[in-house]
Amino acid sequence: MPKISDAQPLPRIIIDDVHKTFKLRHTHSIKETALAAIRRKPLTTDFHALDGVSFDIQQGESVALLGFNGSGKSTMLKLISGVLEPDEGTVLTRGRVAGLIEVGAGFHPDLSGRENIFLNAAILGMTKKETEARYDEIVAFSEIEQFIDTEVKHYSSGMFLRLAFSVAIHTEMDVLLIDEILSVGDEPFQKKCLARVRELHAQGKTLVVVSHDLNMVSNLCDRGILLQKGKVRFDGPSAEAVAVMRS
Ligand SMILES: Nc1ncnc2c1ncn2[C@@H]1O[C@H](COP(=O)(O)OP(=O)(O)O)[C@@H](O)[C@H]1O
Ligand SMILES: [Mg+2]
Repeated sequence: MPKISDAQPLPRIIIDDVHKTFKLRHTHSIKETALAAIRRKPLTTDFHALDGVSFDIQQGESVALLGFNGSGKSTMLKLISGVLEPDEGTVLTRGRVAGLIEVGAGFHPDLSGRENIFLNAAILGMTKKETEARYDEIVAFSEIEQFIDTEVKHYSSGMFLRLAFSVAIHTEMDVLLIDEILSVGDEPFQKKCLARVRELHAQGKTLVVVSHDLNMVSNLCDRGILLQKGKVRFDGPSAEAVAVMRS
C-alpha cells in the first residue's frame, strides 16, 4: 500500500537567494603587488558567480542545469553537494546527496583502485559494510577489474571516470548530481551510464544534471533551469529551456 507521503511533494533541494562571489586576482609579481598597495589599487575584484539564485527541486524531479561556460553551473552543484558554502542565502538539502562533480575529487593518486573505492564511498557517506556489499557490483560496472589493484595515478582519464562514476551510482543516495562527466567516457560506457541514470530516476531518485549535450539532457530531464551570468534566466520544461538558451 502506498504511503500517504508518496503523493505529497517532498522538497529535496531548496535554493533561496543564493550568492557566491569569488575574488579574482589581478597582480602576479611582488613588484606589481607593491605598486598596487602604494597606489591603493585593489589586488582583487569580486566576481559574482551566483547572484541571487532561487529554486526548489522536489523528490523525483530530473533537472538539467543549463548555461554557457562560466554561468555558474558547477558552482551551483558544489553548493548543493556541500563542497562550497554560499556567501549569502540558503542551500538546504534533504536526504543523501551523491554524485560526480569533479572527476578526481575524493580519489587519492597513490592508492589503488580498490582502496579508492572505499575512500570515495566513505566520502559519499557509505559505511565500510555497505561498500563491501556493493564492491563487486562497482568493479563489474566499471569494467576495469584487471587494473583494480593498480595505483590510480597510472589510470587513463577514461578508466578513472569509469571507477568514479561506478562508485557514485552505486552509493545509497536520494539526490544524484552529475557535472559534464558523461562526455569523458567512450560511447558504450556513456550509454551504459545513461541507462543506469534513467533507472535511478525511475526508482524515484532526484537528478540534477549538467551537460553540453543539450539533446541528451533535454531528453533525460523534464525540467531545465537556465543560468546566465549567475542568475536564473529561465526555469521550466527542459525543451523550452534549451530553446531559450539557443535563441
Ligand atoms: N574557486 C574559484 N575562484 C575564482 N573563480 C572561480 C572559482 N570557481 C569558479 N570561478 C569562476 O566562477 C564562474 C562560474 O564558474 P562555474 O560555476 O564553474 O561555471 P560553469 O560550470 O557554468 O562553466 C567562472 O567564471 C569561474 O571562472
Ligand atoms: Mg562547469
